[in-house]
Amino acid sequence: MGLNSVRLNIIILSLLFYVSSAEIPTTLDGPFKPVTIPLDQSFRGNAVDLPNTDPLLQRKVEGFYPEQISLSLSTNYDSVWVSWITGEFQIGENIDPLDPDTVGSLVQYGEFQKLITEEAWGYSLVYSQLYPFEGLQNYTSGIIHHVRLTGLKPNTLYQYQCGDPYLAAMSGVHYFRTMPVSGPKSYPSRIAVVGDLGLTYNTTSTVNHMTSNHPDLIVLVGDVSYADMYLTNGTGSDCYKCSFPDTPIHETYQPRWDYWGRYMQPLISSVPKMVIEGDHEIELQAENMTFVAYSSRFAFPSEESGSSSTLYYSFNAGGIHFIMLGAYISYNKSGDQYKWLERDLASVDRAVTPWLVATWHPPWYSTYTAHYREAECMRVEMEDLLYNYGVDMVFNGHVDAYERSNRVYNYTLDPCGPVYITIGDGGNTETMAITHADEPGNCPEPSTTPDDFMGGFCAFNFTSGPAAGRFCWDRQPDYSALRETPKVSSGA
Ligand SMILES: [Fe+2]
Ligand SMILES: [Fe+2]
Repeated sequence: MGLNSVRLNIIILSLLFYVSSAEIPTTLDGPFKPVTIPLDQSFRGNAVDLPNTDPLLQRKVEGFYPEQISLSLSTNYDSVWVSWITGEFQIGENIDPLDPDTVGSLVQYGEFQKLITEEAWGYSLVYSQLYPFEGLQNYTSGIIHHVRLTGLKPNTLYQYQCGDPYLAAMSGVHYFRTMPVSGPKSYPSRIAVVGDLGLTYNTTSTVNHMTSNHPDLIVLVGDVSYADMYLTNGTGSDCYKCSFPDTPIHETYQPRWDYWGRYMQPLISSVPKMVIEGDHEIELQAENMTFVAYSSRFAFPSEESGSSSTLYYSFNAGGIHFIMLGAYISYNKSGDQYKWLERDLASVDRAVTPWLVATWHPPWYSTYTAHYREAECMRVEMEDLLYNYGVDMVFNGHVDAYERSNRVYNYTLDPCGPVYITIGDGGNTETMAITHADEPGNCPEPSTTPDDFMGGFCAFNFTSGPAAGRFCWDRQPDYSALRETPKVSSGA
């Protein structure tokens, strides 16, 4: 089970009703009587995208100086990825991709207040987002660099500069602290977990909140830049599904990714962030390619964790083993991801990492009408495996709301099941999920619930329990410990 009396301090950032003086329950507490609390809608703030012209989104470097500098963890404390971009992206009908070999990928680093004596070389790439349709603009990125630092000490402050010294294009000095050594009494102090961050004025308040709380690590549970809410000409929309029904392909405006990288640099050049893909990262383009921006822009410890894909991987943060799962790639028992997950879970030593935390984008246990039971096929395939290995907590995004479950397995309260936490309202422009599937008239028609991209249909009526014979409960389900409602009278 990996239960441990050590309190895992996690900042739930899109949990905007959070009262700092309240006692945060541990996973050992409960089950709690289901409660629905009023949502303070003033926290919804300003879910409007920062405009393309916002000064925070502009390129501030010249030539081949690094920009969009960010960090990711490798599998253990002793290794960290540094990523950045050099050169300018191009967008238009005639684009000419840059040659990634023209700019080197070097990080010079050392312990804080000592000489910078170490260096590591990495690799570089460019990616393109191509739409072979007249009138749509193609995009090719600046040169993206990824360098893996190795041989680092645990819980140690490092300084680094990145760039190409032969072009006299090294960045300023940045700092980061490595994770503590993995062990049952060794944890990062604070981890920020955010879903569906986006690049809005609300994102600004989430990011400011993160920055002022000094997290040691940021976990982004999918739906990152929302570049796919734009046409290739840079015109935005507020609704993914209803947007641009007449265009030949679902378009994106890839510069929004560059804007996101620039906007986030002050935070993520010093705090490592770990990203798992959401549906807004699919970004279908020519030749049916998907997830290209996501897979190119971020560094992942896929190879280090035995995964052959950027869409799923694992890593340790002190005494926590994180499993990052892909909901938008095969999760079937016969597929590569499932086999990798079996191997990964079998290799976890709970004496070293007592906490086992999993994340993926669309939740299995959400009682909101939006996306209700949408990822049911994934749950059917993978829930037993996670349960058998005693996963403690699961974080999901996608549903733009907050909900915390009791420990649950197969829709039934179970002291050995994980606690599921949905935190899908990190700041994006999407409408907040406010209705619950168990309220009169809000239970969706089952055939409408599967996600188009994930496909499949597994969400049949319940066969046992209080909702037997039905698709939705007729009251807040027992597995839902706490959720929100905009209505004045709270249904406790
Ligand atoms: Fe999503
Ligand atoms: Fe989202």
